[in-house]
Formats: sequence, C-alpha cells, structure tokens
Amino acid sequence: MNKPDKRISALIEEVRGDILADIGCDHGYCAVGALLCGKVKRVYAVDISADSLEKTRVLSEQTGVSDRVICLKGDGFAPIDARADTAIIAGMGGIEIVSILSAAKELPARLVLCPHQNAYELRKYVSGKFRVEKDFAVASGGKFYQIIVLSEGADEYAEGEFFFGKNMPSTEDYKDMISARRAVLEERFGRMQIPSGKLRAEYEEVKAGCLKLKI
Ligand SMILES: C[S@@+](CC[C@H](N)C(=O)[O-])C[C@H]1O[C@@H](n2cnc3c(N)ncnc32)[C@H](O)[C@@H]1O
Repeated sequence: MNKPDKRISALIEEVRGDILADIGCDHGYCAVGALLCGKVKRVYAVDISADSLEKTRVLSEQTGVSDRVICLKGDGFAPIDARADTAIIAGMGGIEIVSILSAAKELPARLVLCPHQNAYELRKYVSGKFRVEKDFAVASGGKFYQIIVLSEGADEYAEGEFFFGKNMPSTEDYKDMISARRAVLEERFGRMQIPSGKLRAEYEEVKAGCLKLKI
C-alpha cells in the first residue's frame, strides 16, 4: 500500500483503542492503514456495496493483514456484532452520516467523521449529543476536507460554527478553506447580492472567520 494521503493519514491519526470500525471502507485505506501503522489490533470493515468491500478484502490480502480485517457487507453499524472503540465514517455526505449514526443501536466511544458535503446538517445533528474533541480542516489533492472527532459528552456548536466548524486545532488549511470559499461566493454573487437564507448564513460565517483570522 502506498503512503496514505493527508486526509487518510489525518483520519487514522485520530483512531484510539484496539478495535476500529471503518464504515464505508471502500478501498480499505483507513482499515488497512490503521492496522499497518499499529494503531489498532482489529478492524471491522463495512460497506453497503459488495464491489467496494471487495477492494478492502483484496488490499488486506495484499498487505498481509486479512486475519485482522473482518469484512462485512451492510448498512452502517448494522452488520457489526461487537462494540468498536473508534469508528471512521468518511467520504460520504453529512446526511448519510446522520442516518448511519441515528440508526446505530450502540456507538463506539470515539467517532471520526469526514463528510464530503452537508457538514452543516451533520453538525446540526451532533450538536448537544457528543463531546467535540476536534473539528478541523485538511487540504489534500487540491480539495478541502472537514474532520470532526467526537466522544461521549454534550458540547453545543455555536451559531457561526455549523458550516466550517470550530477550527480546533487551528490549521492553515482551515484558513485556506474559508478564504477559498469566500472567493467562490463573492465571485458567484458579487459582494452585496448573496440571497438571504442558508447561503447568506454560510457567507456570514466565512466573513466572520476571515475577520477573526485576519485573512
Ligand atoms: C467515497 S467512498 C469513501 C471511502 C473511504 N471511507 C474514504 O473516505 O476515502 C464511500 C463508501 O461508502 C459506502 N457507503 C455509503 N453509504 C453507506 C452505508 N450506509 N453503509 C455502509 N457503507 C456505505 C459506499 O458504498 C462507498 O464505498
């Protein structure tokens, strides 16, 4: 397996405990990467698609860790019959992640989430239900990704944190993400013409973030 990219490395870095559930494992980079770097002892690799799951199975064979990767086809946590210490749920939309979290009978103590869209909806759902350990951005392959790390507790997101999170820990990638988003919104609508509603709220969050970070 090649060295994981910055996003995958950041996800693996947040894993704690002995058992990982990689929900939506697809290529298997998180599942196999976490084992290869000694972060965990066992992984439940779950995917709703048999073809995607097969990619993880093949990678785990090629890398010699197949005895520690339990490949399960199914929806979210449903096929797992033990409690993992950490779950990574990455590379799908925030609304899909909400539906996986809300359907789970039991959740791991630590959740590492990386929504590829609809981060706003995900934060609205998790606010007040979990402790927010970290909420930060990474840039990889010319794109920005948001990573939300949760544990047991009940932290609230404040208004102005739902689209782009808490920048915790603070990263240069977060600065680049919000300044790039400001440029896109201003280019698309012109400084004064962004319509009211969700887009306006997003723009206000971006502007406040830029002001705070002196961008
Ligand atoms: C784009 S891939 C992401 C792979 C990897 N997690 C990553 O972040 O690079 C999304 C994967 O999630 C799977 N998936 C989508 N919804 C799912 C669900 N409800 N339960 C399990 N897997 C799901 C898809 O089949 C697909 O293989």
